[in-house]
Amino acid sequence: MTDIAVFVDSRGGNTRKVADAIAAGLNVTVGDLSAALPAGAKVVFLGSGVYGGKPGDAMTKFISSGDFRGRKVALFATSGGAEGAKKVLETMGVALKERGAVILGTYHCRGKFLFTNRGHPGPEDLENARIFAREILAKS
Ligand SMILES: Cc1cc2nc3c(=O)[nH]c(=O)nc-3n(C[C@H](O)[C@H](O)[C@H](O)COP(=O)(O)O)c2cc1C
Repeated sequence: MTDIAVFVDSRGGNTRKVADAIAAGLNVTVGDLSAALPAGAKVVFLGSGVYGGKPGDAMTKFISSGDFRGRKVALFATSGGAEGAKKVLETMGVALKERGAVILGTYHCRGKFLFTNRGHPGPEDLENARIFAREILAKS
């Protein structure tokens, strides 16, 4: 389905794993954040790690430079702690709504960080991400 796009900002690879699981489950590949949002993308999955309470810089730029009018967006994040992810998902959601997006839902899970969250995202986190993606498509 060419009207679905998945983009991720992942410094350490944790959020990339979630993006790959979502994309594979939907039969698409993860797009390049340095490129423009494809004109035909109607449902867009955007994910980021949490860095100092913020999304990655490339994701912030991607959102602030994109035209999201008429697009449905689902957000995902990995983080050291749940509060960090909630904050970043909120930040991304507010910025996207200002750019015209409709937010369909969010997903977050833990991502390994220093000595914490070892093994995350793990198989269960990735399965939950695939379920999330299917639920989003069902509402899109
Ligand atoms: C520089 C840096 C800053 C971070 N800041 C936070 C933070 O503020 N809150 C939090 O919950 N996790 C924080 N983390 C943990 C990451 O969000 C977590 O490891 C996430 O899975 C990283 O995703 P990535 O591997 O896709 O880059 C930070 C990690 C790094 C490397």
